[in-house]
Amino acid sequence: MEMNIKFPVIDLSKLNGEERDQTMALIDDACQNWGFFELVNHGLPYDLMDNIERMTKEHYKKHMEQKFKEMLRSKGLDTLETEVEDVDWESTFYLRHLPQSNLYDIPDMSNEYRLAMKDFGKRLEILAEELLDLLCENLGLEKGYLKKVFHGTTGPTFATKLSNYPPCPKPEMIKGLRAHTDAGGLILLFQDDKVSGLQLLKDGDWVDVPPLKHSIVINLGDQLEVITNGKYKSVMHRVMTQKEGNRMSIASFYNPGSDAEISPATSLVDKDSKYPSFVFDDYMKLYAGLKFQAKEPRFEAMKNAEAAADLNPVAVVETF
Ligand code: OGA
Ligand code: NI
Repeated sequence: MEMNIKFPVIDLSKLNGEERDQTMALIDDACQNWGFFELVNHGLPYDLMDNIERMTKEHYKKHMEQKFKEMLRSKGLDTLETEVEDVDWESTFYLRHLPQSNLYDIPDMSNEYRLAMKDFGKRLEILAEELLDLLCENLGLEKGYLKKVFHGTTGPTFATKLSNYPPCPKPEMIKGLRAHTDAGGLILLFQDDKVSGLQLLKDGDWVDVPPLKHSIVINLGDQLEVITNGKYKSVMHRVMTQKEGNRMSIASFYNPGSDAEISPATSLVDKDSKYPSFVFDDYMKLYAGLKFQAKEPRFEAMKNAEAAADLNPVAVVETF
């Protein structure tokens, strides 16, 4: 079915050589037509990635697996007689790096694990900002444009979601993570190199994001679709459950700061934009309740909120 589709893999080291233009073109094509690409030779040390993978798997076994099993029992998911559509078959915890780190508030992490995640987070933050500038270059936006938009008054929000998708006896009954687009900016994913499961929606078909050792999968969130006025796409994706194997995934979200003002870049808009302008936090409030729905109604709701705000009378009439 999807035999001819080749998932975009980008060798980032080629940006330093004579294949720079081709590589930039591949990134641009991926951003327009996939909303996803996979990076190799990205500069992150492989031994750091290996250590993090090992410690994340150990942490799951030691501190998370039992809780996951209890969750299954308490939600009646141990039998799976019928399809379940309101729960995900995943075990997760979050770390925040920016604007303030909460690394030392997270229970049950070894010091070695904390330090490795701190190092990894810093390197991913740098990579995310480099990528944003590559996107600016492809979009004809000035260098630093996206970083500046994301900055708001407090700088970007940067957080990591550490997940395990344990084996599931009846994969057809439940998703590891239901289909959604990501709300934020740029997502950098370090996924299991053996157990697959992540799929994206491309031209109406679900396509696997292939596991590839030491790669980093990148995808674009709703904010980049808005800022690029739809030139780049935030694409639906989901995680399938598997009968065998525990899939690890470490997704880091480089997002705008909560008061960042998001709107389509003027140079990318001809006439009226179909995309709204808003404060990022207001979008997140809306997203919280609508994550597993299509993005278009979210954009529409923000547009209506914008129109309503425009209509607000300057002299407020007291109504009580
Ligand atoms: C997410 C997500 C994919 C994965 O957390 O938004 O899409 O592979 N995760 O865990
Ligand atoms: Ni996602």
